[in-house]
Amino acid sequence: MRFIGNKTQLLENIKEVVDKHAADAHSFCDIFSGTASVARYFKQWYEVYSNDLLYFSYCLQRATIENSDKPSFAELSKNTGIQDPISYFNDMSTENMESLPTEKRFFQNNYAPTGGRMYITDSNALRIDFARNIIETWNQAGLLSQDEYYYLVASVIEGIPFVSNIAGTYGAFNKTWDIRSNKLFVLIELPVFNNGMSNKSYNEDGVQLLHHISGDILYIDPPYNERQYLPNYHVLETAAKYDFPTLRGVTGQRPYELQRSDFCSKKTVVSAFDALLANANFKHIILSYNTDGIMTLAEIEATMKKHGIVSTFEVNYIPYRRFKSKSIVTRTEELKEMLIYIQKEV
Ligand SMILES: C[S@@+](CC[C@H](N)C(=O)[O-])C[C@H]1O[C@@H](n2cnc3c(N)ncnc32)[C@H](O)[C@@H]1O
Repeated sequence: MRFIGNKTQLLENIKEVVDKHAADAHSFCDIFSGTASVARYFKQWYEVYSNDLLYFSYCLQRATIENSDKPSFAELSKNTGIQDPISYFNDMSTENMESLPTEKRFFQNNYAPTGGRMYITDSNALRIDFARNIIETWNQAGLLSQDEYYYLVASVIEGIPFVSNIAGTYGAFNKTWDIRSNKLFVLIELPVFNNGMSNKSYNEDGVQLLHHISGDILYIDPPYNERQYLPNYHVLETAAKYDFPTLRGVTGQRPYELQRSDFCSKKTVVSAFDALLANANFKHIILSYNTDGIMTLAEIEATMKKHGIVSTFEVNYIPYRRFKSKSIVTRTEELKEMLIYIQKEV
């Protein structure tokens, strides 16, 4: 999924640091999980805990980290005859979805031309509304287990970016239709790996969560700058919650006061990072950060050394050139991704 700070292209670099320092580890915590790409990758080898402040991220994690297998949808199948709900939605024509009452069409009434916005076409908005309404109906009727419910919600979320009319994030929609908007919206079937362990996903402030969990490796990938995540991904959050929020302004933002991150403010980031490390009951700590981030390397080093074993502190630089696929603008020539390690006495 396109997501600011997605680490898909950095997985092997993170693995190198893990292998170098944490050969004794059994568990891996991805405390700022975002798309869940890091948690999914490390689930091959470790018991994984994942977490994010965003609910849509939690759904993506819950479907692929906490779930051990692709759901069977046994109860749904027994009661409705629908064995594969993803194919059921994807194979249905949009005309057949027109039976959905207009007042139940939150996406069409708010994010599509019917609602005066252009995040998504009217027909794709209807496909999303249809799927989300039916998933809620099945869930309320007791036809889905929680594993199945989150798997279906996550499959809807994963499909939306492929048909969204945006330039990267949902901070605004394009004023003309991007070619991707005309593709048909479909739910995306997600891979689920069974590692035979008790993996767990959370939707909490990472600083608070660390009061309650412990383990071996703590991977910390916080925001680097002052852009809050929720306003940039509000459409996906609404798809996940499907809670009919009151939207504001031309861009249709949902309220997000409770999901503001202290890691996105120069004023609060160092004390938030300090509290995170103080609460961490993990031996191996790995931080992903950017040389351009709102915490300086000096601040990071001082904070990590305050809580860790000073002699184990290590900074690895990964040039952007290596993990950005194409067009590097001049400003990013100097920019580097860092993977910073310290060991903590636990
Ligand atoms: C750089 S992104 C993580 C990207 C992720 N590693 C990936 O590969 O997709 C930072 C994430 O931190 C989350 N976040 C910010 N503050 C948080 C907090 N206090 N607790 C939990 N998550 C937080 C954001 O919602 C965002 O998803």
